[in-house]
Amino acid sequence: MASVRRRALMTGMGSTVPEKIVTNADFEKILDTSDEWITKRTGIKERRIAAEDETTSQLATEAAREALADARLEASDLDMIICGTVSGDLPFPATACLVQAALGITDIPAFDISGACSGYLYSLTVARQFIENGAYDNILVIGTDCLSKMADYEDRGSCVLFGDGAGATVLQPTEENDKGIVFTTLACNGSGWDFIHIPAGGAAKPFSQDVLDNREHLIKMRGRDVYKFAVEKMQWLLGECMDKCNLSVDDVDLVVPHQVNTRIIASATEKFDFPIEKVYVNIEKYGNTSAASIPLAFAEAKRAGRVKPGMTVLLVAFGAGLTWAGAVIKM
Ligand code: ACO
Repeated sequence: MASVRRRALMTGMGSTVPEKIVTNADFEKILDTSDEWITKRTGIKERRIAAEDETTSQLATEAAREALADARLEASDLDMIICGTVSGDLPFPATACLVQAALGITDIPAFDISGACSGYLYSLTVARQFIENGAYDNILVIGTDCLSKMADYEDRGSCVLFGDGAGATVLQPTEENDKGIVFTTLACNGSGWDFIHIPAGGAAKPFSQDVLDNREHLIKMRGRDVYKFAVEKMQWLLGECMDKCNLSVDDVDLVVPHQVNTRIIASATEKFDFPIEKVYVNIEKYGNTSAASIPLAFAEAKRAGRVKPGMTVLLVAFGAGLTWAGAVIKM
C-alpha cells in the first residue's frame, strides 16, 4: 500500500438500540410464521424496535455521545458530521443536521449519505478522504436506521428481518503509517435499484391516499434475488480487501460483516475458511439494522474486548442500491 502522511484513526465508538424487544414469538402472533422458520433461515431471534416517538436522529445522537466520550472529545471539537441512513426523521433536512442540533453545536458541515446497509461504510470512506487530505481533523461518522418505521408488517418475507439502532465512530488523524483506515472499496449496480426499495413518497410518486391504500410507502424486497447478490458480493469484498492489502486469513483478526443473515455471512466467510471465532455476529439479538449494523456490531465487539490495538479488522457490507462496500482497519 502507498504510504500516506495522514491516516484516519478510529478513536471512539458508541452504539445504542431502542429498549423494546420484539421476539420471533411476537411475530407468530401477527403473521403466518414461526420462530423455527425465522431462526433457521436468518439466524434472528429478536430485534429492537423504536417507540412511536423515538427517532433515527435520537438513536444517532445517543450513539454519537458515547463515541465522543470514548474518544475523550467534546461535541464542540467536531469538524464534520456524516450520517449513513435511509430512514431519516424527515424527508429533509438531513438527519446529520438534527444530530448536530441535538449535540448543541453549529457551523460545521453535516450531511447524510444514502447507501442503505452500506451507508456506514460509504460515510466512513468519505470521511477518510477529508482526514487524509488534511481538510478536517475530527469527524463523527454515524450509521443509523429505523427500518421498522417503513417495514410492511403484512409482508412476512421482509418485516421479520429488520431492527432499529445506531452506531457511531469518531475519526481523527494519525501520522502512524500502520494504523487507521488502510483500505476502502465502494461500488454500486444501480440496475438492481428495485431489489429493495420503497416505491412511493418521493418525487416519482408523492404520497396520496392510493399510495397508502396500496402500501407503496413501505419496503418491497425481492428476498431470493437479494440473497444471491449478497452472497456473491460478500465473498468478493472479503477477497478484494485481503488482495489489495496483501492479507491472508491468518493476518485478519476480526471480520465484522453486515448483520444480514447468518446463512449469507457463513457462505461468504466459509469460502475463505475464516474460523468462526474471527467473525463477529450479533444478528440474533438485533436483526438487520441497515446502516447501523456494522458500527453497532463493531462497538459491541470493542466493549466485549474483541477489538484490541494492533488488530486488523475487515468490514464488509451490501445493501439497497444495489450498493456494496468494504474496509480494512488497523486498530
Ligand atoms: N415465515 C414463514 N415462511 C416464510 C417467511 C416467514 N417469515 N418468509 C417467507 N416465507 C416463505 C415464502 O413464502 C416461501 O414459501 P413458498 O415456498 O410456499 O412460496 C418460502 O418461505 C421460501 O421463501 P424464500 O424467499 O425462498 O426463502 P429464503 O430461504 O430465500 O429466505 C429470506 C427468505 C430470509 C428473506 C432470504 O431470501 C434473505 O435473507 N434474503 C436477503 C434479504 C436481505 O438481506 N435483505 C436486506 C437487504 S439490506 C438493505 O439494504 C435494507
